[in-house]
Amino acid sequence: DWKMDAFVENTIKDIRAKVGDGRVLLALSGGVDSSVAAGLLSRAIGKQLTCVFVDHGLLRKDEGDEVEAVFGPEGQFDLNFIRVNAQQRYYDKLAGVTEPEAKRKIIGEEFIRIFEEEAKKIGAVDFLAQGTIYPDVVESGLGGESAVIKSHHNVGGLPEYVDFKEIIEPLRDLFKDEVRKAGLELGIPERLVFRQPFPGPGLGIRIIGEVTEDKVRIVQDADAIYREEIAKAGLDQDINQYFAALTNMRSVGVMGDERTYDYAVALRAVKTIDFMTAEAAEIPYEVLNKVMSRIINEVKGVNRVFYDLTSKPPGTIEFE
Ligand code: XMP
Repeated sequence: DWKMDAFVENTIKDIRAKVGDGRVLLALSGGVDSSVAAGLLSRAIGKQLTCVFVDHGLLRKDEGDEVEAVFGPEGQFDLNFIRVNAQQRYYDKLAGVTEPEAKRKIIGEEFIRIFEEEAKKIGAVDFLAQGTIYPDVVESGLGGESAVIKSHHNVGGLPEYVDFKEIIEPLRDLFKDEVRKAGLELGIPERLVFRQPFPGPGLGIRIIGEVTEDKVRIVQDADAIYREEIAKAGLDQDINQYFAALTNMRSVGVMGDERTYDYAVALRAVKTIDFMTAEAAEIPYEVLNKVMSRIINEVKGVNRVFYDLTSKPPGTIEFE
């Protein structure tokens, strides 16, 4: 794509001109936007860029390692990569917390604290980079409903104690599809570039009620099976968002000769244009059946699987 090629080349030049020999700090989530921002900045200024990646233990199965494989020392980009393994810290903070907004708040605030701690260790930087894209710029300027919606998606504003002079936002003029093209141009792997949306609070809002390490394991394993089967069936590009969630319901079942009293997993898959309204995707029954039987057989602690048929509204896409 010659246009994207030119965008990448020009942006690299602009970043070099702006940053000079300054230092740049970026919070890398592993999502499309921050990954493409990291790729661009790395190509422009190499080790003048430091990326902080916080593994909050609420990522999808193996996701932390996947991000590290791309951006860490063994990966293809020249940058300083700091991975913070904060899993236990999050599980401790979330113990006993059941209310969805309370969980969101804890997860968001903890992220800011950790990012600040890392920034302190790094010392003063010249720029704080952000993966802001054009729709984010427009939405936050609109006020009203979308501003409110945006604020619940935001991790909780700018970190207060990070010592920087200026913000740098290399993707500010791009739409999502352009960000993806730029990502491909930069050599970021397709599975990262075409990643489906994943909420900031991660699996924390896909486990209804209290989050525990064991529940995280259950939802990660169930979700990995679901995603694998959806991809095998060739449905992954048709469905806009799909995932497994862990209901807080336990019920009686039977496994071999034994009575079980285990959790129910809910499968969600939606078709949507703007994520403001959505419909449940029509997944072939054989595919659902296969997913159900694999989850029950392979994931300890689950004895029922439901498929959520609810549209948005009245349902939301996530369960919390
Ligand atoms: P809902 O559940 O509100 O989700 O229908 C609409 C879209 O927003 C995502 N979502 C979030 N993203 N932080 C985020 O970064 C959040 O707290 C959050 N809540 C929902 C959701 O995954 C879906 O794409």
